This record gives sequence, structure tokens and C-alpha cells, in this order.
Amino acid sequence: MKKENLTKQYKAIYKKSPTNIIRAPGRINLIGEHTDYNDGFVLPIAIDKYTNMLVSKNDDRKIRLYDLKYKENDEFHLDNIKPSQQNKWSNYQRGIAKVLLDAGYKIGGLDILIFSEVPEGAGLSSSASIEIATLLSFKKIYDLNIKPLEMIKLARKAENDFVGVECGIMDQFASLLSKEGHALFIDCRSLKYQYVPLSIQGYSFLVCNSMVKRELSESSYNTRRKECKYALRAFHKILPRIGTLRDISIDDFMRYGALLSKKSRKRIEHIVYENERVQKAVELLRKGNVEIFGKLMYQSHKSLKELYEVSTEELDLLVEIGRNEPGVLGARLTGAGFGGCVIYLVKDSSIEHLKEKILDVYSKKRELVPQFYEVVPSRGAYVEFIAGSGL
Ligand code: GLA
Repeated sequence: MKKENLTKQYKAIYKKSPTNIIRAPGRINLIGEHTDYNDGFVLPIAIDKYTNMLVSKNDDRKIRLYDLKYKENDEFHLDNIKPSQQNKWSNYQRGIAKVLLDAGYKIGGLDILIFSEVPEGAGLSSSASIEIATLLSFKKIYDLNIKPLEMIKLARKAENDFVGVECGIMDQFASLLSKEGHALFIDCRSLKYQYVPLSIQGYSFLVCNSMVKRELSESSYNTRRKECKYALRAFHKILPRIGTLRDISIDDFMRYGALLSKKSRKRIEHIVYENERVQKAVELLRKGNVEIFGKLMYQSHKSLKELYEVSTEELDLLVEIGRNEPGVLGARLTGAGFGGCVIYLVKDSSIEHLKEKILDVYSKKRELVPQFYEVVPSRGAYVEFIAGSGL
């Protein structure tokens, strides 16, 4: 939706003009799945789908929300923030306000109109984009002196403590700090990051939504986290210098892996080799070696399917369709898994053919109509002024 239309809607709802539009993108992860909460490496890009928030301040310490897509509204007072049972969607804003207040930041009321372009339940980080957009709204309107890494940590804390998903740090990181035309290589232990130029001329990332919503994802995701903690304890007993799964080298794994239970061994094997793949991927992309990078994508998917066990039949089918298509260099599930999306690295001239093939094979087998998004590596969250708002 155009900025002018959004502004018009805002005026109709709040009887005043917004002062800013805050935009925070969703993301896909190119490689490095379930490694972030194990202190490992990830390589996401922000996509050109944003959560838009039109905002202006109010003086009554209330956060008023209107979601344009769902035509729903809600409000809460900053002096009494509790999770909402009826309007669960507003728990993101509640969580962000709460973590900011708890951290001692001075914030006041906001009147917010939300319009998100990021599909929900698709593993494209619609939640993180809402969290980051909300945080940036408070920062902008209340002139908070808050650094990007602090924002990322607080947004994650809101999701962990308030929404109840024990996510890692990747999605909020990608939504805030991504750069156009680049992937974001993050070391989730040191939180140091580098921009990796994406020289993939002639190729694109095509996202295909399996349309299987990640309904069970929250509990299954938290289960994986517990399994990792358990596996870590077991490995630590064998090799006390291991503080996180990131510390386990391939050599350590080959030497001691057999001493673990089957499940712990599988989870650790995924993490150890996935971290290795991310580092290789960064080197390959820097050199523009897309062919081998594509192979790593397939390996990552296989590992997520067989070792980490977060794939679904639908995601596997979509990856297999890619494997049989000339012009596709790699495919894998992206995000947490348990439904959601597959990404393909595909020759530009083969995109249409791939889509037709997927529509044909997938729709016949699954009676689901997948959705496609041709994504462009985009910039992270930013603030826009609104002309005529008096600023
Ligand atoms: C979700 C989480 C991330 C990350 C991925 C899996 O997107 O929010 O922190 O763990 O799953 O890589």
C-alpha cells in the first residue's frame, strides 16, 4: 500500500497526521539454521517486505494500535503492561514497551497504525519485523539514546520473555542491520557482524511458501532448544572445555560423538557441520562461487531434515522439485522449519519455469497452492518523515 494511502487511513482513525513511518523488514536466512541460539554463525538477508508503522506521540501514556490488515485495534497503558489473551497480536508491542521501561528508558504514549507486508507464520520473521518497528518507533519519537545491538537484544528479550518463544538473535539482527545487496554474516557469540556482498549476477533467490503454517512451531522450537541444552550437558561431561555447542569442532565430534545418545548426537552433528557450512558459504559468496554455495544449501536442508528433524514432507517435496530443475543451484528450508518457506537459488531465466513446475507438482500432490516471492536483499529498518507533518 502506498504511503499516501496509509497516511489517509491514519488520519481517518486517529484524527491527526502521523509524524513518521517506521519500516522494518522480514528476512530469509541463506544458511545457518538453529545455530544462533547455540552461539554459532548465521547468514540472513533482509527481504523487500516490510512492516510499516505510522506513528505519532500522545501525552496520556497509552499505546493505541490499529492493524490495517486485520482491521483490529487494541490499547494498553504504559503503567500497567500485561500480556493480552484476546489480542495476542499486540503482545509484541506490549513486550517491547515493557523491556524498554524495565531497562530504564523514558518512553511515553504512541498512536500506531500497522500495515505489514511480511506474510505471517511463513518463517519470514514477521514477528521480529514488528518488534524492531515498534522499538524504532519509541526510539525515534522519544529520542532514546540506544545503540543498535542493545535494540536487538531488547527485541529478542521481548519475544523470549513476553511472547514466550525462546528465539535466538538472528531475526531481530537481520531486521535492524541488514544492508541492500548484502548478506549479514553474524557471529552469534561475539555479536560481531560483516556484510557479505552478494555477487550473484544472473541468479536470484526465489522464496516459495509451502502454505503449511508453522502452528506447532513455538512448542517444537522450544523443544529443540531444550534438546540442545541436554546435548550440551552430555558433551560437556565428556569434554569439560565445551561451553556451548559452537565450541565443538568436527574433530571433537568425530572423536566423542559416538558416546552420546542417538538424539543428542544427531542434534550436535547438525550444529557442528552447519556452522562449518556458513563459514564456507561466506568465502564462496565473496568469490562469487554460486554453484558450490548452492550445494551447501542442499546439504543444509538434508541436515535439517535428517539430523535436526525440523522439515516437513511439503518442504522436502519443494526442495526435491528444485533439485530436478535445470537452472536451480540450491534449495533449502529457511527459518525454524516445521512448515513455512523454501528458498531457491535459481537462474533468472529459469524462474518462471520453476514456478510452473512447482505449481503443477506441488499443487497436485498437496492440494495446496504455494505462494512465491522473488526477494531482493534489502536494507534494514529505517525511519521516514512524513511531508506536511510539521517536522
Ligand atoms: C527462528 C528464530 C531464530 C532462529 C531460526 C532458526 O527464526 O527466531 O532465532 O533460531 O528460527 O535458525
